[in-house]
Amino acid sequence: MTLPTTMKAWVVTRSGLHLRTDAPVPTIAPAGHDILIKVTHVALNPVDLHLINNIPSWLPLRRNPTPAADFAGEVVAAGSAVKDLAIGARVCGALPLGRFLNGRGSLAEFIAVPADLVAVQPERLSPGQAAGVMGIAGQTSFIMAAAAEGLGSGQRVLVNGASGGVGSILVQVLKGKGAEVVGVCSGANEAMVKGLGADEVVDYRTHAPLEGYLAERFPLVANGKEEEGKRPLDFIFDCAGSQVLFSQSPKYMRPEGKFISIVGGASQGVVPWLRNRVPTFLGGTPRTFQLLLLLPSGKTAREAAELVNKGVIKEAPIDSEFAFEEADKAFERLGTKHAKGKVIVKVAA
Ligand SMILES: NC(=O)c1ccc[n+]([C@@H]2O[C@H](COP(=O)([O-])OP(=O)(O)OC[C@H]3O[C@@H](n4cnc5c(N)ncnc54)[C@H](OP(=O)(O)O)[C@@H]3O)[C@@H](O)[C@H]2O)c1
Repeated sequence: MTLPTTMKAWVVTRSGLHLRTDAPVPTIAPAGHDILIKVTHVALNPVDLHLINNIPSWLPLRRNPTPAADFAGEVVAAGSAVKDLAIGARVCGALPLGRFLNGRGSLAEFIAVPADLVAVQPERLSPGQAAGVMGIAGQTSFIMAAAAEGLGSGQRVLVNGASGGVGSILVQVLKGKGAEVVGVCSGANEAMVKGLGADEVVDYRTHAPLEGYLAERFPLVANGKEEEGKRPLDFIFDCAGSQVLFSQSPKYMRPEGKFISIVGGASQGVVPWLRNRVPTFLGGTPRTFQLLLLLPSGKTAREAAELVNKGVIKEAPIDSEFAFEEADKAFERLGTKHAKGKVIVKVAA
């Protein structure tokens, strides 16, 4: 393939998102370990929007940054040190944190990355789904499930935000571990979450306040005489960011259980991290709280791909797909915070 020297790439300017048509196509060292990828699909994540809205685009290291981290595409060039990937290979993954923080994102026609950052696209997923599963959402669900040490067959777990990009994959990963999964989402998404394997779905709108409903549905009984159908929760996975869900958790989560969150909020995790570590004798909640931060990597992308190839992750619900020229609208959809699965930008066929 004859490579162009310029390409289209979305950039953030002082006036908002702008489609640049003359961005330079990245180059790779002929003898190196990098590959050049012709991007076909980009999956968007809330962190992309956070960076666009809250980190100034004029900062020296981020001048007119290109947003987004997840990608799927085709290898069109490779350094001679790359052994495992041939030209034409279909790959996917997520850019490392430092790279998309400083604005060398994936929402462009071509990206250059180290070959070990990618996974080969599993055949059972479409390229858009592959960008989501091997991207930030799938990698995050993988590390969330891994943080639940001792999670075993038949244990009851709750996924708050089960219809979102992370939650919809996490439900499947937890089912793969044999857990009994209770998914929390709005009623409109109930069928979708059940279809992903959830054993029970709780509509947080009809059962508001959620923590009150959970205390009745899965009560922690002091004398240990639990009713089988009402067993308390062993783990709670929070993809929606609810402090009260944690502070009330002693009513419905076992003492040895763990509350695993990925939502840091406005303080980027500092406030929940400090607040939820207060010892019980000082009034803290007597349950373990863990806040995770994903550092995307090729290793985790390949672990997610393995779960797809084993049939554990069967699908990645796609909320919507936008043409490359309409990526700004894709960000608007993501900003509603009610996407059903992933919002995808199709960059090329
Ligand atoms: N720490 C990390 O490394 C990390 C990594 C990835 C993501 N995150 C964070 O995790 C969160 C989820 O990410 P995502 O990609 O899954 O986002 P997303 O796809 O935008 O999630 C949207 C989903 O959230 C659900 N939702 C909204 N309000 C809810 C509520 N009150 N209760 C339950 N569900 C609710 C919506 O369901 P309904 O429409 O049914 O309400 C929708 O399906 C975001 O805050 C993101 O920034 C953190």
